[in-house]
Amino acid sequence: MIYLIGNWKMAPEKSLKAVELTKASAAIAKQYKKSVTTIICPPALFLSGAQKQVKVPLLIGAQGVAASDAVAQTGLMSAAMLKDVGAQYCIVGHSEMRARGDSNTYVKEQVMRLLEKKISPILCIGEQQRDEQGWYLSEVKEQLETAFADLAPLQAKKIIIAYEPVWAIGSKATRAATPMECREMLIFIRKFLSDRYGEKVAKTIPLLYGGSADEFNAQTFITDGEAQGFLVGRVSLDPKRLALLAKAIS
Ligand code: 13P
Repeated sequence: MIYLIGNWKMAPEKSLKAVELTKASAAIAKQYKKSVTTIICPPALFLSGAQKQVKVPLLIGAQGVAASDAVAQTGLMSAAMLKDVGAQYCIVGHSEMRARGDSNTYVKEQVMRLLEKKISPILCIGEQQRDEQGWYLSEVKEQLETAFADLAPLQAKKIIIAYEPVWAIGSKATRAATPMECREMLIFIRKFLSDRYGEKVAKTIPLLYGGSADEFNAQTFITDGEAQGFLVGRVSLDPKRLALLAKAIS
């Protein structure tokens, strides 16, 4: 099964548009359900609206969670709240959140809060830049080591990992990663998981790619890049392109 996860980020502006987008995503999820698991991650404000529209096989996720359950956290949302509005998944560690201050330790605590509420974390990891010496591998290793530090195998199995090189994300990116760059990193991540939990557990954790993934390049990320799915930003806001992407990977 290939994962197709839409990270809507801070879009759309209107709730009506969010309902339309949810319905269109639901139709795509239904059409490709045999081979693609489709998940949408709308802004938190639209989650309960989405919950009313969403029918299996489309699943919903959130885009962030507080790292502790203390009430005095203006502007944040707890895992319990997300659960109550139907979120089964939640993105953590996205580079746009790390840029606003979420540290590896904060991400680790977010993972814990989500697992306590039986929400699957979509853990984003990725390097800022690539370098000839391979220091970028240490950057990713540190993200992995902290996030998985206290997780037992059964907890680790609930996580989805999205490798998102920061330099490949969004409209400012000059290019997507190549399938070979993706492959190298996914093997590195799989090796980390396998050393820690054994091959059997490591194999159950889906490894996705994100960063300028689209209907044109997606197929080669699967065939040559070893990706088991995608975390997409811009394409997830355009139902026509999302449908083409689903078709390409199905
Ligand atoms: P784009 O697909 O727009 O590059 O965004 C990727 C991303 O950040 C998904 O989380």
